[in-house]
Amino acid sequence: MDQVWIILVAYILGSIPSGLIVGKAFYGIDIRDHGSGNLGGTNTFRTLGKKAGIVVTLADILKGTLAVVLAASLTPDIHELIAGVFAVIGHMFPIFAKFKGGKAVATSAGVLLGYAPFIFLLLLFVFLGSLKWTKFVSLSSIIAAGSAFIVSLFTRDLPLIIVIGILAIFVVYRHRANIQRIKSGTEPKISWMGK
Ligand code: G3P
Repeated sequence: MDQVWIILVAYILGSIPSGLIVGKAFYGIDIRDHGSGNLGGTNTFRTLGKKAGIVVTLADILKGTLAVVLAASLTPDIHELIAGVFAVIGHMFPIFAKFKGGKAVATSAGVLLGYAPFIFLLLLFVFLGSLKWTKFVSLSSIIAAGSAFIVSLFTRDLPLIIVIGILAIFVVYRHRANIQRIKSGTEPKISWMGK
């Protein structure tokens, strides 16, 4: 029974639509009507500026971390990474926002922060390096997700390898439209970040 509760709590935690809350409460703006329409940190940066973008990105990371830490401390009956996966599912398909959520990046990063902080740090550098080089957040997210999987293979931690594999698939799948835009040359670069 504990497993069901943890999965439910993780899903609900992941479902908290921080981009929607911050946008509506402090700016009177629904970020889903702007930019890429995505309910995530990047679109918050793009639509509402740096301060809101940082808050929403950190909140989305925290959802993944909290799910993992809570599961690890509350019960030995479920692997904490499973709770992490459900937090990411909540973030992508939030019950509080008509199941239209984000693209799995920040909350997946939070899962790693909670379970394997060293890998999180490594990927942060990969992401930032790629962002500096390509100027695309979406492409950098995909590169970080792919790198995460490669790095995970060296850990010999099977649950971690499987979960990172699943999360990387989520990230790539949720960036289908971005991939099309990159191909057609219409994906926006990060010029908006300085706002
Ligand atoms: O984390 C999402 C990011 O990789 C892309 O967001 O708004 O540009 O589609 P967006």
